[in-house]
Amino acid sequence: MTQDEMKKMVAHAALEYVEAGAIIGVGTGSTANHFIDALAGIKHKIDGTVASSEATAERLKGHGIAVFELNEVSDIPVYVDGADETNKYLHLIKGGGGALTREKIIAAASNKFVCVADGSKLVDVLGAFPLPVEVIPMARSYVAREIVNMGGQPEWRENFITDNGNQILDVRNLEILDPVKMEAQLNNIVGVVTNGLFSIRPADVLLLGTEEGVKTIT
Ligand code: 5RP
Repeated sequence: MTQDEMKKMVAHAALEYVEAGAIIGVGTGSTANHFIDALAGIKHKIDGTVASSEATAERLKGHGIAVFELNEVSDIPVYVDGADETNKYLHLIKGGGGALTREKIIAAASNKFVCVADGSKLVDVLGAFPLPVEVIPMARSYVAREIVNMGGQPEWRENFITDNGNQILDVRNLEILDPVKMEAQLNNIVGVVTNGLFSIRPADVLLLGTEEGVKTIT
């Protein structure tokens, strides 16, 4: 099975978590895109969605699925999104697509976070994938120096602006043995909007695509 087939398989499996009459939080990326396409098949069952990026909102609207602003919505029973890395505790690295801040906001506002990922995303220790950090543009160099002091190697994701008008530093070489501590420490640097560690609010369910089928990890 290809990586994309695995992504499609877990995206379809996530439909099981979609409740009738609910507003569904929808993530960003190729796995989330498969979920959006699958959701289109049951769109009459739901009241609508909240999107974690402009790209996701466009794709949802293209399928005729209603997209609400988060401020208009008080209850999101489930949020479905992919990940760049996950450990067995369902701590994640996200933000490869640059949507980490809106993703983290919707994850925080949701009752259940269902992460959908192909098997290659499961790792023992987070950090082989460069950790994205969204920064206010004027703070980029300052934040980069602070991250170097922490032992990281930040690289500016040039020619990329987030949906919030900010910039991204991709950080290599961080030994993320304590994701909760690292997430808080990075968010404490003035000028950081948020970072791609999702460990203070981890996923609740991981649907992992494997050759043997979908593995559910909680
Ligand atoms: C976007 C994300 C994505 O969930 C992450 O990059 C995984 O993407 P894909 O499903 O394409 O492998 O965090 O900001």
